Amino acid sequence: MERLADADPTVVLTGGTSGIGAVAARKLAATGATVAIVGRDEERGRRLADDVTASTAGTVRFYGADLATQAAVRRLATDVADTYDRLDVLVHNAGLSSREHTITDDDVELTLAVNHLAPYLLTYELMDLLREGAPARVVVTASGVHARGDLAFDDLRLEEDYSAIDAYARSKLANVAFTVELADRLDESEIVANCFHPGFVPSTDLFRDASLQVRLFARIAAAVPGVGTTLETGADRLVELATASEYGQRSGRYVGTDGPEDPAPAAADPELRERLWRVSADLVGVEPDWP
Ligand SMILES: NC(=O)c1ccc[n+]([C@@H]2O[C@H](COP(=O)([O-])OP(=O)(O)OC[C@H]3O[C@@H](n4cnc5c(N)ncnc54)[C@H](OP(=O)(O)O)[C@@H]3O)[C@@H](O)[C@H]2O)c1
Repeated sequence: MERLADADPTVVLTGGTSGIGAVAARKLAATGATVAIVGRDEERGRRLADDVTASTAGTVRFYGADLATQAAVRRLATDVADTYDRLDVLVHNAGLSSREHTITDDDVELTLAVNHLAPYLLTYELMDLLREGAPARVVVTASGVHARGDLAFDDLRLEEDYSAIDAYARSKLANVAFTVELADRLDESEIVANCFHPGFVPSTDLFRDASLQVRLFARIAAAVPGVGTTLETGADRLVELATASEYGQRSGRYVGTDGPEDPAPAAADPELRERLWRVSADLVGVEPDWP
């Protein structure tokens, strides 16, 4: 594993309290990094932070935030900016699959809010800090499921025939399209942006709020030899994008389980990406002409 920077690299890792993110936080801290993990579960987050800090060369700090709420994303960015004077890596790993059709306080479908709009807004809010850390990285935990996603601009709130799988696939397509568009808009000598598929990792908590159908599918798939992968492997893929020098020089990549590959055509389509960017800016109330 490579070191991120000469001294005290700082990483913000959403979804660092459970599953792939929790294992990745430990691995990053073992390289000497300072890792700010973000999640809702205060008790679990603080316990993990104390435990990793006591047993590795690095430091883990817990930040409590419900990323479903834009005000909480903005508060988180303020807290991070109050603590650190630069950011080397921003990892958007928090994610959920929601069984119920839910509209957030900001009037957005919940899966899109947490899995896509929170990364969009947090990146916007932390851009100055990333520039201070240049060369810096943005890493997004996407999924191979993005290939079956539909951005559904005509039904953004997914009011018609809500399906948890479709909502999740849409949010993951948005992850990939956002990453490619962000990379396109950034100077890659300053900040790179890449996303990846961690593999199917059945042992995480991702499916805790999923529909019975999804939970059943996950359980069956997990039992098929060679289909599922371990938490360790999923976390290694995250750490690789966050630290390997190879990915510090490449931007706009979608990395599958066997390395960089072409994303689904919708994620590569400049018109769709641009539209998603503008719609996202509108939904979080910022001007789209960033970064
Ligand atoms: N597992 C797989 O097979 C698989 C496959 C492809 C992609 N992925 C992606 O991998 C990422 C990590 O998922 P995982 O599988 O490790 O699942 P997980 O164990 O459920 O972890 C999800 C993380 O996201 C956080 N989170 C969820 N909703 C949140 C919210 N509203 N606000 C703040 N934090 C929130 C959770 O923290 P709290 O509970 O503390 O809030 C937790 O730390 C996700 O983006 C997922 O889409 C997973």
